Amino acid sequence: QLAQIVQEIGTEAYLVGGFVRDLLLGRIGKDIDIVCVGSGVEFALKVAQKLDENISVTTYRNFGTAMFRYKEWTLEFVGARKESYSRDSRKPVVENGTLQDDQHRRDFTINALAISLNKQNFATLIDPFGGVEHLRKKIIQTPLNPDITFSDDPLRMMRAIRFASKLAFDIAPETFEAIIRNKERIQIVSQERITDELNKIILSDKPSYGFKLLFHSGLLHYIFPEMVELQGVEAVGDKRHKDNFYHTLQVLDNLSEKTKDLWLRWAAILHDIAKPATKRFDEKVGWTFHGHEEKGAKMVPHIFRKLKLPMGENMRFVQKLVRLHLRPIALVKDNITDSALRRLLFEAGSDLEALMQLCRADITSKDHQKVKKYLAN
Ligand code: CTP
Repeated sequence: QLAQIVQEIGTEAYLVGGFVRDLLLGRIGKDIDIVCVGSGVEFALKVAQKLDENISVTTYRNFGTAMFRYKEWTLEFVGARKESYSRDSRKPVVENGTLQDDQHRRDFTINALAISLNKQNFATLIDPFGGVEHLRKKIIQTPLNPDITFSDDPLRMMRAIRFASKLAFDIAPETFEAIIRNKERIQIVSQERITDELNKIILSDKPSYGFKLLFHSGLLHYIFPEMVELQGVEAVGDKRHKDNFYHTLQVLDNLSEKTKDLWLRWAAILHDIAKPATKRFDEKVGWTFHGHEEKGAKMVPHIFRKLKLPMGENMRFVQKLVRLHLRPIALVKDNITDSALRRLLFEAGSDLEALMQLCRADITSKDHQKVKKYLAN
């Protein structure tokens, strides 16, 4: 239907971006990005009018974009453009351009694919940078010199890691080296955009992979230094402590197999966060981290504020779990024994509320029902 309307209007238009990428990966997304040659706003208004007169179109004339919802879809329209950026600003200088110009300004080869909606070459895939090959080989690579791509918008360094983590792809070596070279430019990006990407990395199936890429690229040192502090092992004589960075990632992955709840995952990330600050070596007992749970709980609001994460109920939930050193999370393990469960409830004491909340989260465990039953008694 869309193709028919586009052809009636007679404007040159293409499906682009994430929708095409996901389509080739066998997933049909709900967000459809359309590029046309000419005004994106005028085109969107015409398409909406033909689809259904009652559609209300949101237009952003300053950006030359427009969007509307139709049935379960969200359609976003933009005129093909040529963008160039100055080094110290995120605001691009925008000029009208061709489809080729538009594909050139995109972040990764797999996001620079287009499918024609036009009569003369309908459904043709236009792939100037080998995006299809990269989808097949599972590679994230920039279409141009990566230093230019990342300099244009440094957030793309985190997007590279987000797509790698979400899709279980590798980052091409020259692209990854450019992230290392350009890492400090992440500082010109707003905290909201950074945290948005970080949360998407955390929500991927195996978040440890994304965190390792953030760590090895050096980005993590800028965006979340408290977590970098966890890395490393100190030894006195033959007494060593574990590497708390890798331990944290292991806990995070294990939990991520059970739940997609962002805040439970944040609790895993922060459960040992005060270990570097409380680390002591005692001749008799070796390494201790006495009081790190309480100190960690105190750090939670500071970290949330700095990362511009919401300060409300979810923050308090994470704080509780950090104070309880994640013990209630055993509830999401498969086959928790009755006695372990009783011990846990006993230990949690007044923090039964935290447990209750945990059980409202989307836990996939079979034990969910069992836990609920116990808590109800
Ligand atoms: N894009 C870009 N540089 C950015 C952001 C976006 O080049 N910093 C381009 C990419 O071509 C991307 C498209 O704009 O595919 C749409 O961006 P966005 O909606 O943020 O991402 P998607 O690729 O659609 O992926 P998802 O919806 O999964 O976030």
